[in-house]
Amino acid sequence: MLTWSDVTPKPLWLNRRQMIASAGAVAFASPVLAKIDAAKSPLSTTDTPNSFEEITTYNNFYEFGTGKEDPAANASALTTDPWSIEIGGMVDKPGTYDLADILKGQPLEERIYRFRCVEAWSMVVPWIGFQLSGLMNRVGVQPSAKYVAFETLVRPEEMPGQNSPLLDWPYREGLRLDEAMHPLTILATGLYGEVMPKQNGAPIRLVVPWKYGFKSIKSVVKISLTDAMPQTTWNMLQSSEYGFYSNVNPTVDHPRWSQASERRVGAGLFAGRQDTLMFNGYQDQVASLYAGQDLSKDF
Ligand code: MTE
Repeated sequence: MLTWSDVTPKPLWLNRRQMIASAGAVAFASPVLAKIDAAKSPLSTTDTPNSFEEITTYNNFYEFGTGKEDPAANASALTTDPWSIEIGGMVDKPGTYDLADILKGQPLEERIYRFRCVEAWSMVVPWIGFQLSGLMNRVGVQPSAKYVAFETLVRPEEMPGQNSPLLDWPYREGLRLDEAMHPLTILATGLYGEVMPKQNGAPIRLVVPWKYGFKSIKSVVKISLTDAMPQTTWNMLQSSEYGFYSNVNPTVDHPRWSQASERRVGAGLFAGRQDTLMFNGYQDQVASLYAGQDLSKDF
């Protein structure tokens, strides 16, 4: 079983470009990278993944600034070791769990997922992660629990964006329990076979591929099981624009722009936009979660 120390590569991701420049293809063949060769998941899409460069230089991570290039420029100061997650609320075994302990017994897989941002761009990312349900089962979800709430680290001395009141920190997200337990929902600790780059939410972030990207909260330090729908950052900021569910839905437009199509990052100037798929293409797997709900109201 892989542990956190197994998947922590010696060279920092930041040095990757220099590594590639100096060592050529050797960088890709390093034994460190081979160690994180997780099992390939049958739940992966066959779409072609975006490049490592695209995935790590075009980011949303407001703790490091609002520009797409700010996270890559500013996240290197973030301390990700030691790292622990406080798990509480309606669980049998509440506590503050060290990251290495959280990873224990959770099989890491490579999951290549489509990722659709609410801003109408998309990517395809080869995540490394494990099912959130595995962790939930380990801490024992009590029958009264209906939702899972998540929070990101607050550390303004390392996260310069938190010195501005732009968002009400900590960044918060939430899922209904059935969404959290769905096999597609993962906690990711890496991508492209490497430990998670800081700008992508190191050392551990949520990934929910049928929802707009903002649900996929980064650098998680707190998980709480509750019986009330949790407050979420973007809903708190502008509830008319960002609902709790935030399922990718080409038929429900954002009040200020259409969600019917999207731009695939890196596709090139002449590639054109592509149609957005219902539930981001994961309809067969997740539509049943919302049977009987009016998704124009529960957006
Ligand atoms: N998590 C935190 N803590 N802070 C953020 O600003 N941005 C969200 C989401 N998770 C965000 C976050 C948004 S809007 C998107 S689109 C995705 O992260 C972007 O993930 P990526 O940069 O890995 O593509």
